[in-house]
Amino acid sequence: MELDKAIEQRFSVKSFTKKNVDFGIISKLLDVAIKAPSAGNLQDWRFIVVDDNDKKNGIAKACKEQMWVGQASAIVVVCSDLVNLERFYGSRGEVYGIEDCSAATENILLKAVDLGVNATWISAFDEDEVARILRTPENYKIVSVVPVGYSEEKFFEKKRNELNTFTYFNEYGNATMSTSAFPVIKEENVTAVKEGIKESKGFFSKIKDKFKDVREEMKKEDE
Ligand SMILES: Cc1cc2nc3c(=O)[nH]c(=O)nc-3n(C[C@H](O)[C@H](O)[C@H](O)COP(=O)(O)O)c2cc1C
Repeated sequence: MELDKAIEQRFSVKSFTKKNVDFGIISKLLDVAIKAPSAGNLQDWRFIVVDDNDKKNGIAKACKEQMWVGQASAIVVVCSDLVNLERFYGSRGEVYGIEDCSAATENILLKAVDLGVNATWISAFDEDEVARILRTPENYKIVSVVPVGYSEEKFFEKKRNELNTFTYFNEYGNATMSTSAFPVIKEENVTAVKEGIKESKGFFSKIKDKFKDVREEMKKEDE
């Protein structure tokens, strides 16, 4: 599947059917997880694949009672083994561990779309309780819990604020855009943004429709 499509179509489901996911698919998810970048290429990620019902339900309970998580065919728990990270990078190692495992988690989510299965990133959990259930060593940091299964939920359009609401140039607060740096944003919309800033009233609502048009156009160009 084309990368843009996988990114666009990925969404977080909150329910699963009873259909099982083949282990071959889970192993493909893990194959791409380990292609993610990692600090110093230390590859500190460790994956615990859980298909035992009691453990799945225990993890779901530890995920602040998100009991639907236990309905997944399997749960991939992504942990960082901090030993080498802390040896090389001291206290910064834990941050790298979280980042490495997050990159691996996103690869899992995107590959799941490609393979036609559903997966959700869960991080609201009691880490001590998940560690107890999985019997992970002391030096493991549990970063994400990823239930994988089939869902009947249908994709709906992503709710995201506009790119310009997150982006500054050269320094915080400078929202002036350059078309060459941001080819995704067309000239006419840059003008709209600038006009919006000038007028400042109704800024977001004014440019919202403009960006929607561009997205539609780009979608058509892709097809
Ligand atoms: C760090 C992180 C933690 C998350 N934790 C949970 C969670 O505990 N439960 C849940 O249902 N979704 C969780 N999500 C999924 C987000 O709710 C979801 O990504 C967000 O609402 C955007 O929706 P989308 O993924 O469908 O685009 C988490 C996502 C991230 C990145």
